[in-house]
Order: sequence, then structure tokens, then C-alpha cells
Amino acid sequence: MAQQGPVTIKVDGGVAIILIASPPVNALGAAVRAGIKGCAEAAAADPAVRAIVLAAEGRTFIAGADITEFGKPPVPPSLPEVIAVLERLSKPVVAAIHGAALGGGLEVALGCHARVAAPSAKLGLPEVKLGILPGAGGTQRLPRLIGAAPAARIACDGTPISAKEAQSLGLVDELAEEVLPAAKALALRLADGALPVPARDRTNLGPREAFEEAASALLRKHAGNPSVEAIIDAVRTAFEKSFEEGLAVERAHFHRLRDDPRSKALRHVFFAERAAARIPGLPKGTQPRPVSRAAVIGAGTMGGGIAMSFANAGIPVTLIETSEENLRRGLERVAGNYATSVKRGSLTEEARNQRLGLIEGKVGLEAAAGADVVVEAVFEEMGLKKEIFGKLEAIAKPGAVLATNTSYLDVDEIAASTSRPGDVLGMHFFSPANVMKLLEVVRGAKTAPDALATAMELGRRLAKVPVVSGVCYGFIGNRMLSRRTAQAERLLLEGAQPKEVDQALTDFGFRMGPFAMADLAGLDIGWRIRKATGKTAPVADALCEAGRLGQKTGRGYYDYSGDARTGAADPEVAALIERVSADQGITRRAIPQAEILERLLYPMINEGARILEEGIAARAGDIDIVWLNGYGWPAWTGGPMFHADSIGLQTIAARLRDFAEQSGDTTLAPSPILQRLAEQEQTFASLDQKAAA
Ligand code: 3HC
Ligand code: NAI
Repeated sequence: MAQQGPVTIKVDGGVAIILIASPPVNALGAAVRAGIKGCAEAAAADPAVRAIVLAAEGRTFIAGADITEFGKPPVPPSLPEVIAVLERLSKPVVAAIHGAALGGGLEVALGCHARVAAPSAKLGLPEVKLGILPGAGGTQRLPRLIGAAPAARIACDGTPISAKEAQSLGLVDELAEEVLPAAKALALRLADGALPVPARDRTNLGPREAFEEAASALLRKHAGNPSVEAIIDAVRTAFEKSFEEGLAVERAHFHRLRDDPRSKALRHVFFAERAAARIPGLPKGTQPRPVSRAAVIGAGTMGGGIAMSFANAGIPVTLIETSEENLRRGLERVAGNYATSVKRGSLTEEARNQRLGLIEGKVGLEAAAGADVVVEAVFEEMGLKKEIFGKLEAIAKPGAVLATNTSYLDVDEIAASTSRPGDVLGMHFFSPANVMKLLEVVRGAKTAPDALATAMELGRRLAKVPVVSGVCYGFIGNRMLSRRTAQAERLLLEGAQPKEVDQALTDFGFRMGPFAMADLAGLDIGWRIRKATGKTAPVADALCEAGRLGQKTGRGYYDYSGDARTGAADPEVAALIERVSADQGITRRAIPQAEILERLLYPMINEGARILEEGIAARAGDIDIVWLNGYGWPAWTGGPMFHADSIGLQTIAARLRDFAEQSGDTTLAPSPILQRLAEQEQTFASLDQKAAA
């Protein structure tokens, strides 16, 4: 056995096994690339070797290029070079794929003469999700092997396919539970015959029309996505030019996209999402508690969706209400949601029945007795929540995690209503709870480490992106949102119209602006909260008083009498806003879009800085993940804190000082931490790096 860094080679019965061992995911960093190349050359030179198997150790085959190397000076050999070495060998090379073969990992496998995969393996080109395109021949070899149309679909969608589908497409030659012996046997069989034609020389592009049709559909589906445009362009060259020329086109796109700020932002998102899973300050060896059964209290808007999330993850759940009537209504809503998915074709009848079978409705809190986790989702009233947690103390089994879905209330006060505050935390889902990815896991002062770990792990099982937040009003997301909401209202008073404000955000990349969103959610929710807390928002209040509660009344900030979904600007609203401005003694002025955007985003970033300073969020990246997954912040700008770093904190601090001065609102002045970072010409990311070190 010989070793080349993390790659070893062992010759056994005429077959050289090249084994990559680079945990955690065998990414193709410089040492792995050099190792593969060195071992392949050694195998080529060894007369005892008739055939070669390329395999990897650990939980997966190869997860792709090492993303941490992007943006650093390249270290040879390059990945295309390594693949070219494999492909030019005069002995057959078979890839043995278990786990995932993604991005550069699949490209390496495409450079082999054949591929054996475990039935559970996943194969894909997810580069599009990082704002790039496959850069080591994927756009040239895959089309020539399986057809240009399916290859373009795989690369543009970025979602991995199953080994079975890969086999039916001709990407995988054989399926086997034990990939290594199967790959060895295949390699030896291939050594007995003529060397198989490598993917680069295959001619299976398929009809040009089929590709063009797929390309148009993909460009429509991913409109404006520069990676998708590049992939289509690169795949198209396969019809028009030689393999080598195709590689050059691909490479040029790859370098251009990799250096684009959008790709940098998406790479930040990739790592921030994984960092958010790490809980700071958790004692070593903390294990999550087992969860095999859940209960959800309250079958309203949120409770129903949360119960669906459990059922969708295969966890049996009891949905609890106060009366048969409320329960029936809640269960009907759940069944209705599933029926819509079946009608749309996104869920089979069988899966629907199975999921519905996991949801059991019950009246009375006693039904929570068998659950390992209880999620409370009743009305947002402290008294009611305390009463429920007080009762749960006697009902819930020892060690059950007791979670509240409260949006704003003090989780520590709720925890204090039980004698087991260590079991209590917040699990703040977002609406619709069965769809939205974000889960804020709220860590109370007394939350036990293993209860916290349980909620985080459960979040992942529910296919959510869990982020830890400390206790404060509105937690990470809603606390920042309230800053934007306040500015949006101010902008109306000072001279803007709802459409201008919304458009500033949709042009930036949000799907919806604050006013379209308010109309969708209903203006009465905020009105009720303002009345209860003695706050006012003159424009929003006036609209509510005029009966304009949003889409549900056909009128809100917009008029929905024409198009019931998008709504149109309404002169009556314009007049109402002008009247309210005049009442407030404000002289209206035209506000440029750039200023609108700054006014909406910078105070939120400032609040994010305070959240960091108070330790409510552990990392700036956590705040980004909250906004990306819960509020539709456009991923290619990386989230609010990453975006702030890209603009420069000096610029943001200076603008905030202007806003504070102009408005007299001192809360708009840069927070101490923002001020300090700006003065030191530092970034929020520098805080995360310090925390990680
Ligand atoms: N480069 C560097 N680090 C990587 C990595 C990669 N390609 N893929 C995963 N990692 C790291 C993660 O950051 C994480 O690190 P941490 O433990 O310090 O947080 C660790 O590996 C484990 O990753 P996950 O938590 O994601 O592990 P899972 O088991 O949940 O998932 C996976 C495994 C499905 C392979 C998943 O990690 C994944 O999707 N990886 C990225 C795949 C990808 O995007 N590949 C394309 C890369 S670009 C490319 O190949 C360009 C080429 O065309 C030239
Ligand atoms: P909702 O009003 O739709 O549902 C509440 C349900 O709780 C009702 O069906 C009610 O009958 C039931 N209920 C009341 N007392 C009960 C009791 N003692 N036992 C069992 N059931 C009881 O309210 P919604 O919107 O689902 O909100 C629930 C919680 O989730 C609130 O704390 C809210 O702040 C929070 N939340 C709401 C979001 C939203 O967008 N609606 C988003 C995130 C959190």
C-alpha cells in the first residue's frame, strides 16, 4: 500500500484501489487532487495493475471541490487536470460511489470509464446553488454521456438525483449495495475487453430540438439566474464545438461566476447555515433527548402547520384543542392543505394518507402525556400560556421538551410557570409552518443544554433550518423586522407611496415589499398589537379605521378589486396618506429609491448589530440565515449582515447618523458595536471569525 497525502493505493488481484480518506466529506482540496493524480499515475506505471477502482472512505464519496479554496490562489494540480489524467489511462477506471457524488465529485466520476453506485447514493451538480457552474467538465461530459436535455436539467436545478434515476439515464452502469467489490469485479471485466469509450468521446447528446426546448423551460424557470444562463450556454457548445473548446467555454464562465460577488455571498450562506447548527457554550458530549412522539397545543393557523411538519417527517403527533368544534376546524384545514398538494401533484395519495394517519386530534391537555416534545401554539396571551405550561408540568412526561411558538412573549416568564424550566424553550415557526424553513429555537435563561440540542436536532428532522436565539422581544427576526416596519410607515409620511417603498425592496430581490405583505397578512393583526401596547402608526391606523384591512377586505394599502392577488395603487390611499402627513405637520418630498432602500435596510442592520452585542444571536451569520429562510431576503446578497459588510460599515454608520440627525430619532444612531467596527474598518464577519477561533 502506498500513500499520497489523504489518498492511498492498494493493489489486490490485479486491481488498484485508489481510496480517498479526507473527512468529513472528501472534498477535492489540493492534497486530495494531488493524491488522486499521483496514485493514478502510479497505477498506470505498475505492470501488476490491470484495472483501477476509485473509491472514498467515510460517510460519502466526494462532495465536490473544496469550497473553502475558492477565492484563494489556485494550487496545482487543477481538478480538470486530475480528471484528464484518469480519463487518459489505458487501464479501465471504475468509480465506486456511496453517499453523494456532487459537483466536482460527480465530475471525477465522469472522468472514469464506468460508475457503480449504492442504491442510496445521490448524484448531482449543485454548483448552481453556489452561484457558479460545474467547472471541471461537467457541462461537457454529462451531456455527451446521457443527453444534453437531461444533463442541462440536472445542472440547472442543482438537486441531486437518486442512483436508480442515474442508472436509468445511463449515468450509472451498475447498482450494488457493496460498491467496492462490485466496482472491482466490473473493472476486471472491463480489463478483459476493449477499453470503454470515455464520456468525453461519447455521442449521446440527443436531438438538438429536445435540448433547446429544455433550455427555454429552464431559462424561464430560473429567470435572471446567471449560473443557469452559463450552464445552458456551455451545454449548447457541445452541439457546436469540440470537447476541448467546450471545456474552455465552461472554464471561462466558471472563473467569471466564481469571482462574482453573488457567488461569494452564496458561499457565505452555505457555511453560515452549517455554522448556525453549532450551539455555542454547549457542554461537550451533550446528547439530544430521543423524540418519537409529539403533541401540538392549539389547532389554529400555526398549530395545524406545525403538526403537518411533524407528520411530514414521519413523527406521530397529537393535535390538541379546547373543543370538538375547534378541533374539527383545525383538522379540516390540515386535510385541506394536503388535498391541495395532492391536486397539484406534489404529494401522492398514499403519502397524504400516511401523513394524515400520523396526526391524531384530541380535546384536553391530558392528551399531551405521551409526547416527548410538546409545542404550544395557542393565542398570543401570556396569561393563557402560563396557565398551559403550569398544567403541562403535571401532564407531560419527565424529560419531555416543552416548547412555545410565541412570536414575542418572554420565554423565561413562561418557563417560570413550571417547576421544570430546564425543559422549556421557544420553537418559533414561521407561517405557513409546514412550508417555511426557518425555526428560531429560543434558549431561555434556564433551558437545559440537552433540551436545546433536542430542539435543534428536531428542527433538522423537520427539514427546517434551526437557528438559536436568546430571549428578547421578537427574537432575532421580528425584532429586526419591527425596525423596517417603522421606517416603511415613516417613508409614507415623508413623501413616498406604498408602491415606491415595496418596489425598492422587490428591485433589491425580495419577493414582496412590506405593504403588499401587510395586505396579505391582514392589517388588523398589527393594529390589535399597537392598541394593546399603546403604540400608533398613523397611516396604518387610518387605513384600519377606514376598514381597509388588506386582501381579506379587498382593500388595504392596495386595491384588490381588479387583480385579487397583486393589487393596484389606489388614489384614495394616496389621498389618505397625504392627509395624515398634513395632520402631522410634515412637508412631503420626493424620496429617491436608493434612499428608500437605505432607510428600510440600515436600521434593521443596526438592530442586528445590537442583537449581536447583546448575545441574542451568536454570530452575524446566524442573523443572515434567519432573514434568508424566514423573510425572503435574497440569497445572492448573503443576508443583512453580509450585505452590510459588502457595502462597508463606515458607509452604513454614516448614513445612520444622518437619519438620526434628520429625524431626531436617536434609536437610528449607529449602535456602539457598529460604531466601533466602522471606526476600526472591520466587518461583522470578523466577529464571527473571532468567535470561531
Ligand atoms: N467544500 C468544503 N467543505 C465542505 C464541502 C465542500 N464541498 N461540503 C461540505 N463541507 C463541509 C461543511 O462545511 C461541514 O463542515 P463543518 O462540519 O465544519 O460545518 C462538513 O463538511 C459537513 O457538511 P454537512 O454538514 O453539509 O454534512 P451532511 O452530511 O449534512 O451533507 C453533503 C453532506 C450532502 C455532501 C453536503 O455537505 C453538501 O451538499 N456539500 C456541498 C456539495 C456541493 O455544493 N458541491 C459542489 C461544490 S462546487 C464544485 O464542485 C465546483 C466544481 O464543479 C469545480
Ligand atoms: P390562532 O388564533 O390561529 O390559533 C390559536 C388556536 O389555539 C385556536 O385554534 C384556539 O382554539 C387554540 N387554543 C386556545 N386556547 C387553547 C387551549 N387552552 N388549549 C388548546 N388550544 C387552545 O393563532 P396562530 O396564528 O396559530 O398563533 C398561535 C401562536 O403562534 C401565537 O403565540 C402566535 O404569536 C404564534 N405565531 C403566529 C404566527 C402567525 O403568522 N400566525 C407566526 C409565528 C408564531
